[in-house]
Amino acid sequence: MSGFLITLEGIEGSGKTTQLDFLTDQLSKFGLPYICSKEPGGTDLGKELRSLLLTPRTSGEKWCLDAELLLFYADRAQHLETVVRPALRSGQIILLDRFEDSTRAYQGIQGVSEKTLDTLRQIVLKDLRPDLTLLFDADPEKMLIRVNSRNREKPDFAETRFDREELCFHRNVRERFLEIASREPERICVIPADESPESIAGNVWSLIAPKLNAAGFLLR
Ligand SMILES: Nc1ncnc2c1ncn2[C@@H]1O[C@H](COP(=O)(O)OP(=O)(O)OP(=O)(O)O)[C@@H](O)[C@H]1O
Ligand SMILES: [Mg+2]
Repeated sequence: MSGFLITLEGIEGSGKTTQLDFLTDQLSKFGLPYICSKEPGGTDLGKELRSLLLTPRTSGEKWCLDAELLLFYADRAQHLETVVRPALRSGQIILLDRFEDSTRAYQGIQGVSEKTLDTLRQIVLKDLRPDLTLLFDADPEKMLIRVNSRNREKPDFAETRFDREELCFHRNVRERFLEIASREPERICVIPADESPESIAGNVWSLIAPKLNAAGFLLR
């Protein structure tokens, strides 16, 4: 049996990491084989790239769009080659905290063309696509309030470069995510993210369970 790739997407604070924890609890409860990872930062190289990409910059130098884009793709290439494809080959469920749709949304709204994104997809993803993508969707204004209080309360959550962007940037990211979802409704499920964490987790599980069953993962 081949594995099953689930990606979690959405703007900052939409609850991706929170829901990933609920999901891993459920998968453990059913004794299913899974790994969790994230982009950027799912490998040793990726951790260095993540720090480069997300730490607020002190020098003031503005990176050109292509430089930033290629660093995200360097992270993705290493991650797919050394973590994701091997786990899929060994029949595991893989949960990814952000993947290609994030690049399409964040770098897309800054001006990277669809053609460039498609070319990189061809080079790095080849024919690999997530089996299921959960897009957590909610009002960016509310989500940024969550992010700010999380970053204040939890010392391991330093502010990232994207947390500093203006509200309109996050609104554009949200819209772009929704556009992507409307083009691929079979793969991408839009999940309202402003309910309680437990209720969202219930919605997510009732979506995922039948798909895992259909893919041959027995839930007993
Ligand atoms: N449904 C919810 N209702 C209220 N608060 C929530 C909900 N889900 C998550 N939170 C809280 O909001 C904050 C952001 O959640 P989380 O870190 O899971 O978001 P994220 O999508 O992973 O954000 P980022 O993109 O910054 O990694 C956390 O403090 C979390 O506890
Ligand atoms: Mg997170």
